[in-house]
Amino acid sequence: MSDNAETQEVSESQIAVHWREEEYFPPPPAFVQQANASDPAIFERFSEDKFPDCFTEYAELLTWDKPWDTVLDTSNAPFWRWFVGGKLNASYNCVDRHAAANPDKTAIIWVPELEDDETLYISYGELLRQVNEFAALLSDYAGLKRGDRVTLHMPMVPELAVTMLACARLGVVHSQVFGGFSGNACGTRIADSGSRVLITMDGYYRAGSMQDHKVKADEAVAEAARQGQHVDQVLIWRRREGEYQSQTPIVDGRDFFVDEVIGKYAGQEVTPVSLNATDSLFLMYTSGTTGRPKGAQHSIGGYLAYVTGTAKYYQDIHPDDVYWCLADIGWITGHSYIVYGPLSLGTTTVIYEGVPNYPDGGRPWRIAEKLGVNIFHTSPTSIRMLRKVGPEEPFKYHYHFKHMTTVGEPIEPEVWRWYYNFVGKSEAAIVDTWWQTETGGFLGSTLPGLQPMKPGSCGPGVLGVYPVIYDEDGNEVPKGSGRAGNICIRNPWPGIMQTVWGQPERFIDVYYRKYNRDPNSKDWHDWPYFCGDGAVQAEDGYFRILGRVDDVINVAGHRLGTKELESAALTVPEVAEAAAVPVIDDIRGRMVEMYVSLKPGYEASPEMEGKVVTAIETEIGKIARPKNVWIVPDMPKTRSGKIMRRVIASVSNFADVGDVTTLANPEVVEGIRQHVQRTKVAKGDAPRELSETELAEIQAFGDV
Ligand code: WTA
Repeated sequence: MSDNAETQEVSESQIAVHWREEEYFPPPPAFVQQANASDPAIFERFSEDKFPDCFTEYAELLTWDKPWDTVLDTSNAPFWRWFVGGKLNASYNCVDRHAAANPDKTAIIWVPELEDDETLYISYGELLRQVNEFAALLSDYAGLKRGDRVTLHMPMVPELAVTMLACARLGVVHSQVFGGFSGNACGTRIADSGSRVLITMDGYYRAGSMQDHKVKADEAVAEAARQGQHVDQVLIWRRREGEYQSQTPIVDGRDFFVDEVIGKYAGQEVTPVSLNATDSLFLMYTSGTTGRPKGAQHSIGGYLAYVTGTAKYYQDIHPDDVYWCLADIGWITGHSYIVYGPLSLGTTTVIYEGVPNYPDGGRPWRIAEKLGVNIFHTSPTSIRMLRKVGPEEPFKYHYHFKHMTTVGEPIEPEVWRWYYNFVGKSEAAIVDTWWQTETGGFLGSTLPGLQPMKPGSCGPGVLGVYPVIYDEDGNEVPKGSGRAGNICIRNPWPGIMQTVWGQPERFIDVYYRKYNRDPNSKDWHDWPYFCGDGAVQAEDGYFRILGRVDDVINVAGHRLGTKELESAALTVPEVAEAAAVPVIDDIRGRMVEMYVSLKPGYEASPEMEGKVVTAIETEIGKIARPKNVWIVPDMPKTRSGKIMRRVIASVSNFADVGDVTTLANPEVVEGIRQHVQRTKVAKGDAPRELSETELAEIQAFGDV
């Protein structure tokens, strides 16, 4: 299947969406009083007629070695170039300048998962020392230099931030792969990015037990080799200095413990390399509609300016705040709003190693109380989970949040209200931030001191970002019409990725082809950015995001491509065909269900189902573990042989399968339906009744 947005004839736009208008919540007065943005004149400064110069306000938050000549260069549209001619270093901006002004100020507070382990406070001065020493090691011991890519596969430890900042210091492009991804998934990303060095950790705690993580490095190196990329060095940070937490042997000449090597670089200083604003800071891989993951390539100047500006105004970060984002640094949220944005602003950022409900649902609130956290940031999945395990827990602890964020998935209004009333104790401003790996920073949100909140809606476009909803034919769907469509951004912004690493044609095809007015145009007005999300816009201009319109399943805020899941299932030799569909889940938003058919001569069995689960965990990671694997005699197909995912998605969700008479094999549907739904009912696993928007998503899933 092609990854061309043009082929995605998903018809969210034809679906009339009805929902109850929610009431506004005004920002709490105490919040407004101290907010970074409390003067409505800011909207004037970012009005469309000031574009693109309005974004110099964000760039001016940074320290530049040389100022830019051109704010936005569109000459090679849609490969936008921001702050052209400018020179800077991200590591300098996130570390050195604060270390110089305030060396003892805490930069990072690290909370290990085991409650008896000591919380670590790292000052800006200390962070600078660590970043310098590791940068020296990277350049001398690992031989890395400006422009090289390096893959990181690390858990939630401060060494991950140190590693990223050390790369940034040298102009080495880091590509951090989410620690929960499998060795094979990491290997694929090593190969795609052309990394010859892998940086990892021996182990980490998760849900109370030490995970062997180094074992994945061996798998990753082997997988990368299969794909033609040789890794000659694996640098291993150790979770506990001097102890090795993994069972796997150390490969002589390839594997090195950082703590054994770093001594050689004690006290060394590495001058931050003065880099072009348009050089690249990092790659962040994400899923698309084909199996090959997309490396979203982010710039230094535009990206850092954008995350710094949005962290200041939308997260309301002041230097003396204690800010805690519970996301994983292995996702874009962690890059932008745990590491780069907060540190660039010189605040204190909290990194927590483990799962939020370990050892119980009160853990986040104990951490918040102990550390004096006043800004909190998490996902709807964590909020749902914490509500389930301890709805009253927040009131047992004496913390006070002035501000809270939700990110990653649509949040149901009832869940939002629990977040507001219980977690926020009715005294915090909430922002529901809608954005993507590709966009670097927020696209849709309320400005917390100036715009009221509305549960379930992210709000309008953020400062300087102008969203629009188009129908399939490119007609604008007016606000207040009650109709949904494809949300796009009319203009470029500094946080937008530069390209898809090594696949520039895919960058154009996926994000710009669909609504481009003239492929030769150098005028940004002709290049609306296609987000891949369905949305509706209310009369007040607020957007409600409905979810993906492509073949992506959003599990607990993490994007999984159906093609990746299906390719993983197909690595099981007995499997003939595979299809992945979403099921609505009350905690995780969506979960994956797999349908597979077997080659002739093989029988369905629990062992066979287990093989499919194992294959998915091996190829992608535990996060993608399917809720069920259904082995069916045949898949419902069109006459041209395409598997009808919307039919099986409807079966899994107990939705009406619609008209199946045009299929090549309509007779198989009823058998599958009875088997799947009876089994689910027997297991007590029948879903609640779906809302109209959920139904629309399921019944159009994979529609091409
Ligand atoms: C979804 C995460 C509703 C959306 C930052 C988007 C959201 C995808 C929200 C990107 C939100 C993200 N409300 N949906 N506030 N935030 N999404 O790349 O479908 O991991 O396209 O970036 O998550 O996921 P990604």
